[in-house]
Amino acid sequence: MKDAIVDTFRDEFGERPDVSVKTPQVLFDVYINKKEVIISLNTSGAPLFQRGYRDSIGEAPLNEVIAAGLIRMSGWDKKSTFMDPFCGSGTLLIEAALMAAGLPPQIERQHFAFKNFKNYDAEVWESILAEIPRRVTELPCEIIGSDIEADMVTRARRNLRGLPIGRFVKTSVDAFQDVKKPSEDATGIMISNPPYGERMGEEVEEMYEELGDWMKTEMKGFNCWVISSNLDAFKELGLRPDRKIKVFNGDLECSFRKYSIYEGSKKGKYMNKPEEK
Ligand SMILES: C[S@@+](CC[C@H](N)C(=O)[O-])C[C@H]1O[C@@H](n2cnc3c(N)ncnc32)[C@H](O)[C@@H]1O
Repeated sequence: MKDAIVDTFRDEFGERPDVSVKTPQVLFDVYINKKEVIISLNTSGAPLFQRGYRDSIGEAPLNEVIAAGLIRMSGWDKKSTFMDPFCGSGTLLIEAALMAAGLPPQIERQHFAFKNFKNYDAEVWESILAEIPRRVTELPCEIIGSDIEADMVTRARRNLRGLPIGRFVKTSVDAFQDVKKPSEDATGIMISNPPYGERMGEEVEEMYEELGDWMKTEMKGFNCWVISSNLDAFKELGLRPDRKIKVFNGDLECSFRKYSIYEGSKKGKYMNKPEEK
């Protein structure tokens, strides 16, 4: 591919350009699928999902763009409370906070491949950057995360620290069973990526049963979204989902499910009926 390009230059201009193979200034992507070949000019350089804020990751972190996609699909209004009681290294919290602050995810990034293009217009780029708020003085909502592992919460805090939204996100070391809404009448959204039990011998059914009970008792007024690849464990939640969306977390086929937890009726019954097992 590189040779074809430089040879074309030589034929056209009589000189073969020098290209550093390890750190080329302009990148092309070549996708080959059977007899179809797609050649595209890469305008980004390092992949856009590598947001650059994650120094510290846990064992099963969500890819940043999947986290952002889940939040978008949930329809969160970016004003009501956002909670993730299985926050791990904080990916969902960070993406939610960036969205709430109106900050583009690549805010800290200096280099994009398009800056090496001949038609790159620095003035246009600077004027786009100038529209982005430089300082965040508050968020329009509460963003709260917790995890049972102290080490995970330390990682989340480390990742948050480098970002302009970091200080507005509350984190704590807690088992989800002990987590409470910030106030009795708070409404909002929970998006969580609990363990799937993919590893040998990891039993998660009981945890999902407890999660369902906890959502019913503690999360009234919230839309609770759970992503998991474990379809049997979902049934243990004992709640009927309002929505099911098929998503892939890497190679793993998962379901992203919404459970609306209503305030009980006057008799104290939940409107959400259990899913049939
Ligand atoms: C799949 S990871 C979440 C990864 C996270 N979304 C990220 O991007 O880093 C699941 C997390 O659930 C936490 N966890 C397991 N049991 C828990 C419990 N009972 N309460 C709270 N967190 C728990 C684990 O410590 C782990 O960090």
